[in-house]
Amino acid sequence: MRTPSKLSLAITATILTGMFAAGTTAASGHGRSASNASIAAAEAWAFPVFPPPPDPHAPKPNPDSVLHVTGSTVTYTQAEFSDTNPDWFPEDHPPVPHIVADGRKPARACAECHTISGAGVPATATLDSLPKAYIRAQLAAFQAGERGMGGPATVHDMVDEARALSPADAQQAIDYFSATQFVPRVRVIEAAMVPKTHWKFFVRVPDTDGAREPIGDRIIETPVDFRDYSHADGHVSYIAYVPPGSIAHGASIANKGAGAAAACESCHGAHLEGSNMPGIGVVPPLAGRSPTYIARELILFHLDRRTDPAAAPMRVEAAQLTVPEMVAVAAYAASVRPESARPRVNAASRAWVRQHVVQ
Ligand code: HEC
Ligand code: HEC
Repeated sequence: MRTPSKLSLAITATILTGMFAAGTTAASGHGRSASNASIAAAEAWAFPVFPPPPDPHAPKPNPDSVLHVTGSTVTYTQAEFSDTNPDWFPEDHPPVPHIVADGRKPARACAECHTISGAGVPATATLDSLPKAYIRAQLAAFQAGERGMGGPATVHDMVDEARALSPADAQQAIDYFSATQFVPRVRVIEAAMVPKTHWKFFVRVPDTDGAREPIGDRIIETPVDFRDYSHADGHVSYIAYVPPGSIAHGASIANKGAGAAAACESCHGAHLEGSNMPGIGVVPPLAGRSPTYIARELILFHLDRRTDPAAAPMRVEAAQLTVPEMVAVAAYAASVRPESARPRVNAASRAWVRQHVVQ
């Protein structure tokens, strides 16, 4: 998922269907949870729209032109870039397994969609430092069709990928991404008015006329440098615009819960750095990760599109949230900077979970 032209080729576009937009929600009928209409509206910014196929008559880039990204001394010619998944910062990560850098047919290289370092882009996922058991469980969930089936095409790509992976390659990818370092790259900014944006190669970019519009109940996450983004640079940073008041509201949800929704920290740890809960299992980290990704997953849980057994508590949780609450808590989670390697979960929140969630 790296060069703009690769991006569109790499992914078989299945445009968001009416079926998805009108999908039955676990929560319909609950007074304060998100309505189908508000979820459908949120899909417009949380799920990428696929670019049109490349124009075969467009002028070809000069194969000898030399590509750079900010802060790297590595260069690729356009021709080299079209053939390889670029590694702009080789010092960032452990030795890269073949499956990650090059793929093994029919499995594609993880780097195509997640960048070689695992930083990923908002339309895919950041894999850095995810617990091994969590990556393994997600690959199994994609493989079993328990994650993302019947929904938008971005998620289908990962289903195809998980089904194409050999167990040995899956193990190498798990070992690699659990060992790569996670570096937060998103700055969350509260703003009532934001640049008007459109989808370009799976990400929101500002319109060229500089127009602005009200933020509404949205997260608008845009790369600071689109050139670096389109060169698959894992160091590219993002600005995520969110509605005013989101971070404080989200902190309150994370800390105290909202209505019948439990405090996120009770399972994801005090700094949302992930944990391992008795009776629940591995709870993934959220701190500093893409708020668009976090909101997209909350929508998928809400729509019952993550159905592996480990997702059960999250489906209960997401069924209780309104779209503004999803936006707020994603904004807060993205703004948290991971502080400690060791998650802290207090006794009171453990007790709450035991009482409400664990049978
Ligand atoms: C063609 C694109 C593509 C390729 C290639 C790809 N992925 Fe993904 N991956 C995605 C997308 C898109 C998502 C996000 C799905 C969603 O929105 O829930 C994802 C999500 C994931 C997740 C879930 C992360 C989380 O936090 O739950 C894991 C794990 C993952 N990919 C691992 C891999 C591995 C390992 C490889 C290589 C063997 C790989 N992916 C190759 C597109 C891809
Ligand atoms: C009862 C425990 C529990 C609570 C409370 C909880 N979570 Fe989770 N969360 C989980 C578990 C377990 C998973 C992993 C699900 C899986 O393996 O499929 C998860 C996964 C997620 C994911 C997917 C992450 C990824 O990498 O794909 C997001 C996003 C998330 N939770 C957000 C939240 C937010 C926001 C809240 C608070 C509003 C919250 N969670 C409250 C247990 C919990």
